[in-house]
Amino acid sequence: MILPIVAYGDPVLRKEGENISADYPKLKELIANMYETMYDAYGVGLAAPQIGLAIRLFVIDTTPFSEDEDLNSEEKAQLEGFKRTFINAEILEETGEEWAFNEGCLSIPDVREDVFRKPKIKIQYQDEDFKTHVEEFEGLIARVIQHEYDHIDGILFTDKLSTLKKRLIKSRLNNISKGNISVDYKMRFPAMKKKR
Ligand code: NI
Repeated sequence: MILPIVAYGDPVLRKEGENISADYPKLKELIANMYETMYDAYGVGLAAPQIGLAIRLFVIDTTPFSEDEDLNSEEKAQLEGFKRTFINAEILEETGEEWAFNEGCLSIPDVREDVFRKPKIKIQYQDEDFKTHVEEFEGLIARVIQHEYDHIDGILFTDKLSTLKKRLIKSRLNNISKGNISVDYKMRFPAMKKKR
């Protein structure tokens, strides 16, 4: 089932997500719905707060990035089919020299800006079966994980921009929270919620 994606301005995007346990209600169904919602919106990642749940869960599939012609065949192979569910994730380490990548977010349509992050991460998480993993990732996969991980901490990529950039996009963000945008996937706007 495709779920509405929560738009910028909704307080749920600002909450720190809670850890969940294996008996979380209808978890398998929730995860399946999150993948379906992400694919429907042509995203590469989706975090639970974006569908209105302040829990530490996000899903990733970097396959669309593998079509980028600037990448070499090894990089493409890594990105193609990299599909992973992260539950109760904790980033243990971020290393290397920060690099810029033009990020976007399904909760903030039509806003894309360069964000600086470190290239390598070490992360502990549980998979769908609650098996614990500690893994290292780098490059674009690390980047997508870092972006989604921020969501479960209540952080958005726009928080990481310079004061000037923030000022430049302020009215666009306001319009998004008011629902004054057109998107071709299902969204839920804070203003709409209040009207009911
Ligand atoms: Ni996002």
